[in-house]
This record gives sequence, structure tokens and C-alpha cells, in this order.
Amino acid sequence: MSGFNKDWLALREPVDMRARANSLVEQLSQHLDGIERPKILDIGCGTGSTWRSLAHRFPGHSEWQLLDYDPLLLAEAERRIGQHQDVSFRQFDLNEIDSLPLTEVSVVTASALFDLCSAEFCDHFAEILSASNTGLYAALNYDGVMEWSIAHPLDQQVAKDFNQHQHFDKGFGPALGPDATAHLKQAFERLGYSVSVATSPWVMGRDDGDLQAAFLEGLEQPLSEIGSLTDVQIRDWLGFRLEKIAEAGSSCVVGHSDMLALPRH
Ligand SMILES: C[S@@+](CC[C@H](N)C(=O)[O-])C[C@H]1O[C@@H](n2cnc3c(N)ncnc32)[C@H](O)[C@@H]1O
Repeated sequence: MSGFNKDWLALREPVDMRARANSLVEQLSQHLDGIERPKILDIGCGTGSTWRSLAHRFPGHSEWQLLDYDPLLLAEAERRIGQHQDVSFRQFDLNEIDSLPLTEVSVVTASALFDLCSAEFCDHFAEILSASNTGLYAALNYDGVMEWSIAHPLDQQVAKDFNQHQHFDKGFGPALGPDATAHLKQAFERLGYSVSVATSPWVMGRDDGDLQAAFLEGLEQPLSEIGSLTDVQIRDWLGFRLEKIAEAGSSCVVGHSDMLALPRH
């Protein structure tokens, strides 16, 4: 339903885990330590990757609600996390943002979500969180960087086209894509929050070959929709890139960034 499938999310999870900026997780964990019974709302939870990455770093008595609009991903999250008295699941479409269940929520978490969202959505979302004095941890938003250790003459054009495609509507209006973190930072700073940002790049080598291949294959449609490269150029570039994955010393960096916005009081 959402266009994200559990196999893709499973492939990226270990690389996401090591990419997350540790400093922000520590800062958030300390913030939650000072709260009697922290309540965390994870939006766009997919199969529960944020919970698996963070729950063991947060105070043990934290309560989590995981929310996604895709029933298949939510069912997979429930299956993988299992029965846990402190974790609940809810099907919810973020386009209904005004009724987001924020009562007593200490912090909203989201991973790989806001680059899909529009500027208008993020501004409104920031106002809603500010009205209830709630923090936001927004991790793993794509930042526009795509680099390979072994160069190909079309790499820059591919990155430019993909970054343009990242602004296409992903269900929330024109998407922020690579501008998501900068936009969120400004929105929350305007509202008086204390905001920290850190990079969280995927650095993929031969051992991440399956994720590299899936990522590359996922570029074909966006590149062809932008249309500045011919189908033959796209196929040649993809063929070259897929072949290089297994080569010694070959690596690929896909840039992301994380943001933590906490109310000042
Ligand atoms: C890239 S996936 C990230 C999933 C998960 N946070 C992770 O890091 O593995 C984006 C998630 O946002 C969810 N999503 C997209 N649009 C949504 C909407 N309108 N309401 C609720 N969830 C949405 C998708 O179903 C998907 O689970």
C-alpha cells in the first residue's frame, strides 16, 4: 500500500543502525532519563526499525506507540516485535495530522520519513508539536549526497536527476527530499526549540552488496521519469555500477542526516 515493502526495509535496517548519529541518540536518551514515564510516538514506523534501534538505549520504563498507515508493514512490526506490554500499534494516516495522538507524548520519533514530506506538512507538524511542547527526533533523511569510490562519467548527472525526483509528491504534496533536515531545523528553531543536527551517511562496501544492488535498481524508474538520460545511458550506468559492487575497494556513500529538536522548557 505505501510503496515500501518489508524486504527493502529489512535490507536497509542494519546500515541505518550503524549510520544513525550516536550523539543525538545519547542526547535524547539523557533527555528522557529526566522524565518519569517517557512516552514515545514513532510515526511512519514501517516494520519497527526505530524501536529496534533505540528502545534498548532509552529508559527501560518508556512506553512506545508505533504508527503507520500501511496495514501490511504494521502487521510485520507487530509480528517482529511481539507481545510487549509497553509497545502498542496503531494504523494512522499522517495526512490526518491534526488528530495525531500526542497526549503526554515526550518525543515523536521518525526515521526515513520527512524527506517524503512537503514543506507545508513539516511547518504544520512543527506547530502541532510546539503546541504540546513535544520534542522530535527525525533520523535518516536523505541529504542529496551520492558518491562512489570508483567514478563513472554519468555519476553527477544521475545524482542531479535523482535529487530532482526526490521532490516529486510522495503523498504529502511536493516533497522536501534532500532539503528535509534543513527545513525542519529552521521550522523548529523559529518555534524556540533547541535543535541539533548530525550526518548519518550510509557507507556501503562489498558486505552491503544486496542493499547497494536494491538501491541502484530503485534508481532506474526515477531516472527514466526525469528523462535527461536515455534508457541506454541509464542501463549502461546501472550495469557498470552493479558490476563494481563486488570489486575490491569499491564503496558507495548515500548521505543522510539526523535532527533532534527539544523544547527549551
Ligand atoms: C522509508 S519508510 C521508513 C520506515 C521505518 N521508519 C524505517 O526506518 O524502517 C517510510 C514509512 O512511512 C510510512 N508512511 C508514508 N506515508 C505515510 C502516511 N501518510 N501516513 C503514515 N505513514 C506513512 C510508510 O508506510 C513507511 O513505513
